[in-house]
Amino acid sequence: MDNQVHVTMNDTVIHRAKKLTGVLNLPGDKSISHRAALLSLLCREPLEVINFADGADCRSSLTAVERLGGKVEVNDGRVKLTPPSAGLQSQDQTIDCGNSGTTMRLLAGLLCGAKISAQLIGDESLSSRPMQRVVEPLRRMNATIEASASGTAPLEIRPGSLIPLDYTLPVASAQVKSALLLAGLSSGSDVTIREKIPTRDHTERLIAELGGTISVEEITAEILPDPVDPRKKIKSLPTQDYKRAVHLKGVTPLNGGVIDIPGDLSTAAYFIAAALMVPGSHLILKDVGVNATRCGFIHLLKQMGADITIANRREVNGEPRGDIEIRQSELKPRKISGDAIPGLIDEIPILAILAATISGTTIIRDASDLRHKESDRVSGLVRNLSLMGVKVGEFPDGLAIEGGGELSGAEIDPVGDHRIAMAFAVAGLVAHGDTVIKNSDAVQISCPRFFTMLEGLRQ
Ligand code: S3P
Repeated sequence: MDNQVHVTMNDTVIHRAKKLTGVLNLPGDKSISHRAALLSLLCREPLEVINFADGADCRSSLTAVERLGGKVEVNDGRVKLTPPSAGLQSQDQTIDCGNSGTTMRLLAGLLCGAKISAQLIGDESLSSRPMQRVVEPLRRMNATIEASASGTAPLEIRPGSLIPLDYTLPVASAQVKSALLLAGLSSGSDVTIREKIPTRDHTERLIAELGGTISVEEITAEILPDPVDPRKKIKSLPTQDYKRAVHLKGVTPLNGGVIDIPGDLSTAAYFIAAALMVPGSHLILKDVGVNATRCGFIHLLKQMGADITIANRREVNGEPRGDIEIRQSELKPRKISGDAIPGLIDEIPILAILAATISGTTIIRDASDLRHKESDRVSGLVRNLSLMGVKVGEFPDGLAIEGGGELSGAEIDPVGDHRIAMAFAVAGLVAHGDTVIKNSDAVQISCPRFFTMLEGLRQ
């Protein structure tokens, strides 16, 4: 079995790779799939989704849709979602959101506006993640919603009459923004969300695609004549303390129809990193979502010297997509912080692995939310990179990675976090000796075929 991915019971052994080549189609974007599932409940006619994400996370959203009276028919990557003909079901019920923060937070918003009672629960990881960030603004809309004393799930929701909201997000979170937009739609209340740091905009795009009334205001600097020398121009500073405002009219039902979901860029990130790291590699990833609010990882890699091109760019159902071509490249380290973080927050685990292979120090700061993802990703990265022989420093809001040395194979415990499991599997491709990913079925959350896809690229 030399030079191959080798799967045992629940652990996966990764051997060093010689070279990776090939063409891949990735599972559908997880963020867009969640939104399509939940928004289908507010449509007047069925919504058919092509390339719906095949992981356990998005299945949690499909299960929630069924529990609320929607019909879900899955047929070979196509999902037909038929909204309940008599509105959302209203009996007291418990909905299990599994490991999925997106399901719980977006559903909380939708249900608060839908005049129904429900309890939202999740697995151990989800039950420790912060929910106050959605509870607090939903209460400003008059919602009756309660988290546990520690501000976590279970969430208890009771019927209420919601009022319009104009809210500036205190945390850069697309999930919070989307929860409030869904509350606006389900309650018929207008909502304005202002973002100091713009986050992924899939909810806005999908609502518009389904015929909703939504507009986005981008606040940019104006170019004005210099008051001292009017022949010169100066850039005025925006007076607003936000960069983007989303204005939604609380009008439903939305239209159904057919939407085609692009490949998931966050899953693509593992294959992009693998191709950049393994000598002589060349990969093409077909039909991947390249929405600008998600492309922070690609922009950063290009600044670091990566040979990445995007061809065949087009827009399908309001979402940009393209084919991403990657060739192995020598990269230079960078400091990553501030406004750049939300655009690549899910890619930080794999970025840290790449950093470990680059000569020099990579610093990642302003990423304290990483500690509140499916696991505390800062400590998971520090612990496991150290096990592979990498020098790493830990900050409350990030980490510093001294890269360039040889990685040593190690036994990695991803503590149930899919992104940590996939990131260290990629690290195993360039490590000396075998890397064992313990409990590797964590990848089922977002990419069940991850190890098979990786294996298929080896030469
Ligand atoms: C997501 C938003 C991000 C991201 C998560 C998916 C979404 O979370 O980390 O994996 O689909 O809206 P936050 O909104 O908490 O930043």
